[in-house]
Amino acid sequence: MNEVETPADLLDARLRLEELVDRAGLGELCKSFHTLFGIPVRVYSSEGLLLADAVGEHEVCAYVNTTTEGRRACGATVSAVKAHDPGPTKDLVHPCFTGAAYRILVIEYDGRPIGRLILGPYLPSSLKEPPKSLLVDRAIQFDQARTLLLRMPRAKTETISRIALHLKGALDLILFSGHKTLLTSQMHLASVRESFRELQEKNAKLQQAYDKLKELDRLKSNFLATVSHELRTPLTSIIGYSEMLAEGIAGELTTEQKEFVGTIYEKGEQLLQLIMGLLDLSKLESGTMSMRRKELAIGSVLSEVMSTLAPTARKKGVMLDLDMADDLHDLRGDPERLCQVFLNLTENAIKFTPSEGTVTLQARMVQDTGGQEDDDGFALLAPTQMELEVRVIDTGIGIPSRERSRVFDAFYQVDSSSTREYGGTGLGLAIVKRLVEAHGGNIGIEGNEPEGSVFVVRFPIGSSPEVAQRTPGL
Ligand SMILES: Nc1ncnc2c1ncn2[C@@H]1O[C@H](COP(=O)(O)OP(=O)(O)OP(=O)(O)O)[C@@H](O)[C@H]1O
Ligand SMILES: [Mg+2]
Repeated sequence: MNEVETPADLLDARLRLEELVDRAGLGELCKSFHTLFGIPVRVYSSEGLLLADAVGEHEVCAYVNTTTEGRRACGATVSAVKAHDPGPTKDLVHPCFTGAAYRILVIEYDGRPIGRLILGPYLPSSLKEPPKSLLVDRAIQFDQARTLLLRMPRAKTETISRIALHLKGALDLILFSGHKTLLTSQMHLASVRESFRELQEKNAKLQQAYDKLKELDRLKSNFLATVSHELRTPLTSIIGYSEMLAEGIAGELTTEQKEFVGTIYEKGEQLLQLIMGLLDLSKLESGTMSMRRKELAIGSVLSEVMSTLAPTARKKGVMLDLDMADDLHDLRGDPERLCQVFLNLTENAIKFTPSEGTVTLQARMVQDTGGQEDDDGFALLAPTQMELEVRVIDTGIGIPSRERSRVFDAFYQVDSSSTREYGGTGLGLAIVKRLVEAHGGNIGIEGNEPEGSVFVVRFPIGSSPEVAQRTPGL
């Protein structure tokens, strides 16, 4: 059937016999008629395609076919029968040179011819003696041919008409049910096609909306980057001048003036941190953050973090600890940005841990199992990749599990009430996550026992030995 687009097209579509009938079923039907009446049955599509064939070669045909002229005459008869159009009568008898006959009937459906039914050869009951035309070849022995011919099933014209009518009736039923099935499946196909088209349309609209949002996001990042950059310059002056004032360069200040200038300085610094954070975030989001890549030892990064934050920890009465394995591999990355990552995490850990608590930076090599472990914890997929894991462990207030994925959102803070006792703007972790991901790593949060939180950062390390060198003595 032609490509149909809508259910309305379907009903108008030109039907083809081969699409309406199940060939195996049709073959069975023809075979049972052949067995019942001994007369061969063939069904052709209107394009001449043989769809069912219940034909046993009759003895006389086999005999005639042993001669050259007999074969030729037989071939010509079969072609003529196949090509013969019964015309408006839709029913026709075609004679064979042997004296046998074929009945050709048009198969119609819905008022349109869609194929042809051929019964035969059979012997018309009126035939008493074979015609002379049987002797197409000199090699044909008349008596033998006659004996064989007379063995062919003999049928009266009315009998053949009745058989043909029965066959057509059965065929009509098959055609009707075939058409029903075809329509159902075509309707189903058309509706699937329609849903697919609708889906494609929706997809295109979604894509457009996504592109627009992406563009807006890019504009927002650009805007943020520009504004933050422009804010930074005057702010640096404010901080610089308040520092000079505090040092008495512009004359001695009273205690109260000193206090005010101190506040200006402190708030200016806070604002500068916020602006720098925003600038970093917008650069990371727009992919314009420049990063140096070099082979580095994580030990040197963590040691720097330790020495930078040691005074803060001491002031708060929190113990700061570094625990590194001996077999740490080198990492490819930007030392300053990695320092920023672990400074942020450690600063948080100290900030959210009460005095007497402990903050530990722990580094070790682990196998990446890709999350595919069986019940006993054995990796199912090999080979696994080596990863460098750094844990920032504290014994502080902890983060409830439902909050763990949200704290990486910009400006998100677990307790954002006005009575919140901890400072900060909620940008630190958003930057940390993006920086870790820019290094090909990932970050997650676990709970610490009995209390506190553990930030787990993992960086993939190439599994070939020349990429993953050991960092001796760290
Ligand atoms: N170690 C931790 N223990 C408990 N809560 C934490 C810890 N680290 C982060 N959080 C929670 O996650 C929130 C977001 O952290 P993030 O570092 O992004 O922001 P911040 O520390 O509040 O401000 P900023 O880092 O911008 O100065 C924190 O406000 C806090 O609620
Ligand atoms: Mg923070």
